[in-house]
Amino acid sequence: MCGIVGYYGNKEAYPIIIKGLKRLEYRGYDSAGIALMNHSVRVYKCKGKVSELEEITKDKDISGNIGLGHTRWATHGEPSNVNAHPHVSMNSLFVVIHNGIIENYNRLRTELEAEDYIFKSETDTEVLANLIEYVYIKLNISPDEAVRIALTKVIGAYGILVVCNEHPDTIIAARKGSPLVIGKGHGEYFFASDATPIIEYTNSVIYLNDNDIAIVNKKGLHIRDIRNIEQTVKVQKIDIEIDAIEKGGFDHYMLKEIFEQPKAITDTCRGRLNYYDKTLKLGGLHQVIDALTKTERIIIVACGTSWHAGLVGEFLFEEFARIPVEVEYASEFRYRNPIINPGDVVIAISQSGETADTLAAIQLAKEHRALVLGICNVVGSSIPRETDAGVYTHAGPEIGVASTKAFTAQVTVLTMMAMLTGAKNKALTDKEHNALIDELALIPEKINSILAKAEEIKKIAEIYKDATNALYLGRGYLYPVALEGALKLKEISYIHAEGYPAAEMKHGPIALIDEKMPVIVLATVDKSYEKVVNNIQEVKARKGIVIAIVTEGDTTIRTMADHVIEVPYSDFALAPLLTVIPLQLLSYYIAVMRGCNVDQPRNLAKSVTVE
Ligand code: G6P
Repeated sequence: MCGIVGYYGNKEAYPIIIKGLKRLEYRGYDSAGIALMNHSVRVYKCKGKVSELEEITKDKDISGNIGLGHTRWATHGEPSNVNAHPHVSMNSLFVVIHNGIIENYNRLRTELEAEDYIFKSETDTEVLANLIEYVYIKLNISPDEAVRIALTKVIGAYGILVVCNEHPDTIIAARKGSPLVIGKGHGEYFFASDATPIIEYTNSVIYLNDNDIAIVNKKGLHIRDIRNIEQTVKVQKIDIEIDAIEKGGFDHYMLKEIFEQPKAITDTCRGRLNYYDKTLKLGGLHQVIDALTKTERIIIVACGTSWHAGLVGEFLFEEFARIPVEVEYASEFRYRNPIINPGDVVIAISQSGETADTLAAIQLAKEHRALVLGICNVVGSSIPRETDAGVYTHAGPEIGVASTKAFTAQVTVLTMMAMLTGAKNKALTDKEHNALIDELALIPEKINSILAKAEEIKKIAEIYKDATNALYLGRGYLYPVALEGALKLKEISYIHAEGYPAAEMKHGPIALIDEKMPVIVLATVDKSYEKVVNNIQEVKARKGIVIAIVTEGDTTIRTMADHVIEVPYSDFALAPLLTVIPLQLLSYYIAVMRGCNVDQPRNLAKSVTVE
């Protein structure tokens, strides 16, 4: 949450920062601001999006080769001009942008008020700016030393960029708990919350570690930690193509990402699944596969859509590997003194690799000496660095706030992990294993055939775009898909939606059904098909509207449902990968027709780096 961008070099900083902020707007978009330096600092900021910042800076002096920019997702203080970043310290000596939360800001603020500090905003960041200034004046030290000492007094999470008016040739960056990447060009440096604003300038990056403080000035880049110990600068190469973060002719990132799913799954399987000799390799698990095979319990921790993927993972591991699985919201798990035994395997799933609750759950699992594995999409993010081992999803950058291709890539990885574990512990026969490999190979093509029905789904969206409630029902593997379908609809179209296990409908949601309420039923062929058909009858008997997702050629449900969307047949274990696609498209079209901002839904952010 919150995106930060910085530039230090010979070019004009303004266009680089504005472009970078637009790339990071998925992290928050309720206010934006920029600070530009030449001999002194100029700060411009406003409530609203980066485009509004561009408006207010049209006739301003935007020169400068050093600068900081911020796009905010409000935590402390409502979105407003005054709460927008950058924050300037009381005597205008320091300018700070911040992503994260300073938990002890209230106490620090009171202490600073006792030293006659006056605050303009309600933010925790202004407290940090004033604290740095206070330390700088009081101890008469360099700006970077003031930042370091101030941070020793801070409890919480931060990714910050700081400039000092008295030293206009220096940028100071620090992180703890919130991400920060530095790009190294020729005589220039780029700073950002993730690599997307950087990759069009350089593919050499430095990922700061927690408690690192980086100083960039005429002498180059130096990193110390908060204890003042010099750190080695490790430059890594990243390989993200610029096309991957552009819209590529689609109206929205979300639509592009829905259509990218066949490729995302192919890329996720590449080099891992060999369809010809029926082998499966996950290099990232090589060292830990024995422990995974022998464990008596797997705990999956995640948030949001990744948690839904985890629920599918529960079915997969239990069915293929016969290992008991618990799936936990990371935010609940971290605070409820869970029982974690040393032999347990904890799998953390996260698209961004930065979700604060998931990171905290990982810490807890490590303290209990569990083996901690990660399934992440963003290479080099915090979760892959904090876990013992793991598997990347290779879905490519996901920019739309509502997760789509990351979900199917996560389910693909979980499928492969469960197959690998089941094959090793013999819970899965060779025949079953090989049949699954064949099935998985066909998934991208099957998704393509569902995507070809986009116009058909759009027509259904047109009919139900004004609904106020919707119910999603599914059983077994398709229950998590029902949850995911409901989440997609509510987060981007603001229609209230609930996902339920189909058989549970009669214990409550059935009371909601009337002739206005669409009920989306996941009803592809499997062992509970007949039961789901009964659920459809129950909805119809109460004059409900049924939109059914069925297996191609289904004639039974066609006679009962108001609409059917067919998906190709697959093994039921792989059905989530297919059945979720029409739900994503349905939500997308409904949201567009309602005039919602699909890629940046209100109040949401893609990367939730606060708890
Ligand atoms: C936010 C995003 C969701 C995402 C969730 C977990 O709520 O809007 O799309 O599923 O965070 O994020 P993660 O990066 O850990 O998967």
